[in-house]
Amino acid sequence: MSNKIVAGNWKMNKGFTEAEELIEELISLFEKEEVESEVIICPPFPYLEIATDYAQDGFFKVGAQNISPFPCGAYTGEVSAGMLRSMEVDYCIIGHSERRKYFNEDDKMLTAKVNQALENKLIPIFCVGEALPEREAGKHFEVVRRMVRHGLFHLDTSEFAKVIIAYEPVWAIGTGVNATPQQAAEMHAYIRTLIAERYGDDIAAQTKILYGGSLNAKNAADIFSQPGVDGGLVGGASLVAEEFFEICKKA
Ligand code: 13P
Repeated sequence: MSNKIVAGNWKMNKGFTEAEELIEELISLFEKEEVESEVIICPPFPYLEIATDYAQDGFFKVGAQNISPFPCGAYTGEVSAGMLRSMEVDYCIIGHSERRKYFNEDDKMLTAKVNQALENKLIPIFCVGEALPEREAGKHFEVVRRMVRHGLFHLDTSEFAKVIIAYEPVWAIGTGVNATPQQAAEMHAYIRTLIAERYGDDIAAQTKILYGGSLNAKNAADIFSQPGVDGGLVGGASLVAEEFFEICKKA
């Protein structure tokens, strides 16, 4: 094991048959060549059961892309953390910039989601990252600090220790413009200092911090080799089996 994690966020893509085909293609690649990193795939809700069935082969774990902030009950259209846990889902992306932007998810809602995830033994992959104007104004550290503190620092140490953080600068998501390896390393180091201040050096050192934003088979090795980069959260490139597999191999 390389201790790195590569998670594929399919977002709202693929039909039912295509989803199964993609998973089968991935498995045939994993069968041919061993990958050292921990691989997580995060398909849309309707395909989670296909993914958890195939996950029994042991090549990857399964994550959801979202959960309800509520535990259960009359919340039409919502999917609870408990439901996901009951179908062997292990991870859940929380606070993705697309959810913050298009669904107005604010800090209060995100803390409720983080709490729901942890109460139901799902591991949150908590996303933070600045928009382009914020970086251009030199506010990227301040923005990320606020997101990390408001989203996660209500947790006690044992709860926080379970969380994975993903640094995803919004300007790098789906744009083909990835953060440079140095920019990623710099922000990961900064996030780790925030964690150290709140939870101590040991927890800061062991927290997994993934990079996300236009990762592909060409740039992954450089970014993953940076100190403090514990892997990646991959969007578009996770929709093509060979490309995602190549990224997993680089981790
Ligand atoms: P892209 O890899 O398509 O830039 O998306 C990154 C992302 O948002 C993963 O959650």
